[in-house]
Amino acid sequence: MKTNSNYQNKVNDLVSQLHEGCFLVSNNEKEINVMTIGCALIGYMWQMPMAMVLVRDTRHTKELLESSDVFTINIPKKFEMLRELEICGKASGRKVDKFEKCNFKTASTDSGAIYITGCKTVLECNIVYKQIVTSSNLRSDILNNIYSNEDYHTLYFAEITRII
Ligand SMILES: Cc1cc2nc3c(=O)[nH]c(=O)nc-3n(C[C@H](O)[C@H](O)[C@H](O)COP(=O)(O)O)c2cc1C
Repeated sequence: MKTNSNYQNKVNDLVSQLHEGCFLVSNNEKEINVMTIGCALIGYMWQMPMAMVLVRDTRHTKELLESSDVFTINIPKKFEMLRELEICGKASGRKVDKFEKCNFKTASTDSGAIYITGCKTVLECNIVYKQIVTSSNLRSDILNNIYSNEDYHTLYFAEITRII
């Protein structure tokens, strides 16, 4: 995918929505899952438009991202889907069907990634690199604040292959 001014608008969409939350939808051959994310980066890297999301070891989402290369970042319209963001930020897909609970309608891309219909913007992502946060490489105040329980994030770097 080429970057252009439309891409810059989508960068703004993601960055301005992160404090409310966005939906990360993951899927493998057997199941789909959705969780709220408040951390992400978006930009240009390795000659590709790229996004990076951070997913903790304990998330069910992590299990799906480890068994499939595709996911979507679903950016809701401002001040919308707040109830759904709360549900998907609390309940785990191990116990709850969050799609049913939120009454989400979904669609599939040609690459087999699943997304929520009705969001403002969807980024289709293809994982190209991942890295677990390493305590010895991290500034100590962040280590103490964010990882005192040792539930580390994995950073998933992904090519943005399509914007919907
Ligand atoms: C506003 C908000 C932002 C969140 N951001 C993240 C995040 O960036 N990474 C993460 O691992 N968990 C994040 N969470 C927590 C997960 O959404 C939550 O633990 C979820 O229940 C995990 O679902 P799962 O087990 O089905 O994957 C966030 C929660 C909220 C409410």
